[in-house]
Amino acid sequence: MLVHFPIGFLVLSFLLDLVSLAFPEVPGLLRGSFYAMLLGIIAALLAALPGFVDYSDIRRDHPGKVIASRHMILNLMVVAIYGINLWIRSSALSDPKISLPPLLLSIIGIGLLSVSGYLGGRLVYDEGIAVGRHKRHTPTPQDTLHLSTGHAASDGEVTFVPVPNAEQLGNGETLRVEIDKQVMTIVRIDNQLYGFQEFCTHRFGPLSEGSFHGFNVQCPWHNSCFDIRTGKVTNGPAKVDLKTFKIETRDGKVGVLLIKDHDQKT
Ligand code: FES
Repeated sequence: MLVHFPIGFLVLSFLLDLVSLAFPEVPGLLRGSFYAMLLGIIAALLAALPGFVDYSDIRRDHPGKVIASRHMILNLMVVAIYGINLWIRSSALSDPKISLPPLLLSIIGIGLLSVSGYLGGRLVYDEGIAVGRHKRHTPTPQDTLHLSTGHAASDGEVTFVPVPNAEQLGNGETLRVEIDKQVMTIVRIDNQLYGFQEFCTHRFGPLSEGSFHGFNVQCPWHNSCFDIRTGKVTNGPAKVDLKTFKIETRDGKVGVLLIKDHDQKT
């Protein structure tokens, strides 16, 4: 919500600069632009605090982390450029129109701000960052565990893949596992381990970051719920059930049973 303020103030400052070029006889335009810029910088620094919190909340292997890093670097550059801009124009508040150096800095600042705003939009709408509407009570997995069946299974073949870390899961804790391109969540509920596909059937929200209510997992993005025992949708907007995976213990090892079906490419 806070990001609207720096964008609004900084764009206002730029518009006042342009007006001063067209109507240099109007008094106070550059002073107004200066104070709009000052407020924009203050608002940007305030918005940075929740921004850093959101950033540190993104798991390390989330595809949105790279975009978030670029978004943050661009925002820091914008604040630095406007800081210099403010300093340059502070000694020329009574000029009738804006001079070239601060105007150029404003153009660069607005350009970087636009790119950064676009990246921020992608973080929210494409990657679902900061969309969660509930609090988890257990830690979210920071990494995906990559495993392999070790061979090309034939149709209908059942393969047992041990998952070394599954046994240590506490109640309500999740583990994200990728086995030969199938990404799944393993969770312990009621002292029993369950496995189901990681990505929500609505818009691919990460279910390992969802919250658990009894045997229901609630998607962190738009709150669809699924029964983790059967994969059935228990609450929309999702309409398609989840794929579930059987978790077994063999020779003292906990693992996933994978059944190769003819639709699978791997
Ligand atoms: S992605 Fe929309 S409910 Fe899961």
